[in-house]
Amino acid sequence: MVAKISPTEFYNKLASTYDATLKDPRTDAQHLKEAAKIFQKYHSRVGGSLLDLGCGTGLLKELLKGEFEYIGIDIAENMLHYASERGYKIIHKPIEDALPEIPDCSYDFVFALGCLLFIEDIDSTLAHINRIARKSILLSLDNLTQEFIRNITVTVYNHSQVSISNAKEDYTIRGWRSPTTGITIQTRMIYIEKVNLN
Ligand SMILES: C[S@@+](CC[C@H](N)C(=O)[O-])C[C@H]1O[C@@H](n2cnc3c(N)ncnc32)[C@H](O)[C@@H]1O
Repeated sequence: MVAKISPTEFYNKLASTYDATLKDPRTDAQHLKEAAKIFQKYHSRVGGSLLDLGCGTGLLKELLKGEFEYIGIDIAENMLHYASERGYKIIHKPIEDALPEIPDCSYDFVFALGCLLFIEDIDSTLAHINRIARKSILLSLDNLTQEFIRNITVTVYNHSQVSISNAKEDYTIRGWRSPTTGITIQTRMIYIEKVNLN
């Protein structure tokens, strides 16, 4: 097991190269593109408020078509700097602290992409997401291998087997290849609709 640092330190260090790394073919990042594809399938030409948990640099905004108000929650201020430049309103807090403070049905759409692996209490987080979203939810859950969990320098959790009964889309893709460990991660993509959007 390698020595661990906090996700804040990890992502503050990575922030300036994060977008380039994600766009690098060697990372083969598919989860964000897949999320945009699913969202576009159910929401053509829409707008509304969009809460992006663990928003990082706000890359999602480059991929979604439509006029949204983006609100991002993240613990790494260097990542949030880029999200802010992209037009995100930012909340600099851990997801675990921020979600309980948000009233029910506050945002049309809630996204949590590439960030739930850092959250220990997945059940409580999913309950808050479900409570906060008015229209729909998009999640990615990474199926982390034991080798990855041992070798990545932050503490991570494999929540890929969590039970989600009300999903409209629920399937696994080749999600991304870890630039630090070289390990390819399978990612479960979940789309939940709170109201009938047709
Ligand atoms: C792999 S990046 C994903 C960024 C973006 N969602 C994407 O898919 O490109 C993970 C992000 O989650 C953030 N993060 C990790 N743990 C967090 C926590 N407990 N609360 C808020 N943000 C967290 C990190 O700082 C980082 O920006």
